[in-house]
Amino acid sequence: MAPATSSAMTPRHFLDLSDLTPADLRGLLDRAHARKAARAGKPKGAADADQPLNGHMLGMVFDKPSTRTRLSFDLAMRQLGGQTMLLNHADTQLGRGESIEDTARVMSRFCDIVMLRTGPHENLLAYADGSDVPVINGLTAFSHPCQILADLMTFEEHKGALAGQRIAWFGDGNNVAISLAQAAALLGFEFALAVPDAFMLPDEVLAWAADKPGKITRCDTPQAAADGAAALVTDCWVSMSDDPETAQKRATAFAPYQVTQELMARGDDAIFLHCLPAYRGNEVTADVIDGPKSVVFDEAENRCHAQKAVLIYCLGIDG
Ligand code: CP
Ligand code: NVA
Repeated sequence: MAPATSSAMTPRHFLDLSDLTPADLRGLLDRAHARKAARAGKPKGAADADQPLNGHMLGMVFDKPSTRTRLSFDLAMRQLGGQTMLLNHADTQLGRGESIEDTARVMSRFCDIVMLRTGPHENLLAYADGSDVPVINGLTAFSHPCQILADLMTFEEHKGALAGQRIAWFGDGNNVAISLAQAAALLGFEFALAVPDAFMLPDEVLAWAADKPGKITRCDTPQAAADGAAALVTDCWVSMSDDPETAQKRATAFAPYQVTQELMARGDDAIFLHCLPAYRGNEVTADVIDGPKSVVFDEAENRCHAQKAVLIYCLGIDG
């Protein structure tokens, strides 16, 4: 007889956008838009009318700091009728060397679904392997798929359909850039990269994208990437998993890629996106991020609506 923990079905994890079909990704975005529209005007603490996750528990594990991911998953669960439990790495037995796999098995007995933010992507994969319940990638050094759902949703709100559009990225070819490249490949928009060679996206990501509907364009200059773009996107110069001692080298490499008013003006009435936290004067000037074409706080709010779509998708519940 199988042990009580074994699941007849493999849980539906949300680990990377490259695991999705274009239809899956489109469905997630449509659900996120619909759930946002359905609760328009309600105060934040009010539940969604249908409460599809009533009785469900989300466990959140943070190996790395977070403001938006933590707030948005917590609020999303509450509005969907569910509840959350929070584990910070340092406060758990993970911090004393308990294995990821054992932690995943234990959490499967307490939670219906788990969100994990960690450094090495391998930790996430090991966690998912050990888990009997769906696991959501809340950011690793490799990718940040939940963020990109919110970014795409925000883009569609301000600029309309994605197919055929050009979105330009400036600076580090990091986790956020990788997830955005995967989305471009699946949904058929152009992702123009102004990234120094030493910080380019991994070859395997570019190779995976090569035969997909979208187009990844490597540009020689930030100006070339910005030309005609519908959105300019950037991120911090030093990510949470980067060695802080490389900060000076990174600053030197990325300084020419700062998003300025001059770059914005080369776009096609372009909006500005940034996952936040932002460092004004580094990757973006204050007049851009605080200017009229910046939609970064819509983007932050949309994390909550997008997380709902992910939670419902992973749990296979109507909603
Ligand atoms: N954008 C994002 O993931 O923000 P946090 O690190 O604050 O969660
Ligand atoms: N690239 C950043 C994103 C933060 C939300 C990091 O990994 O720190």
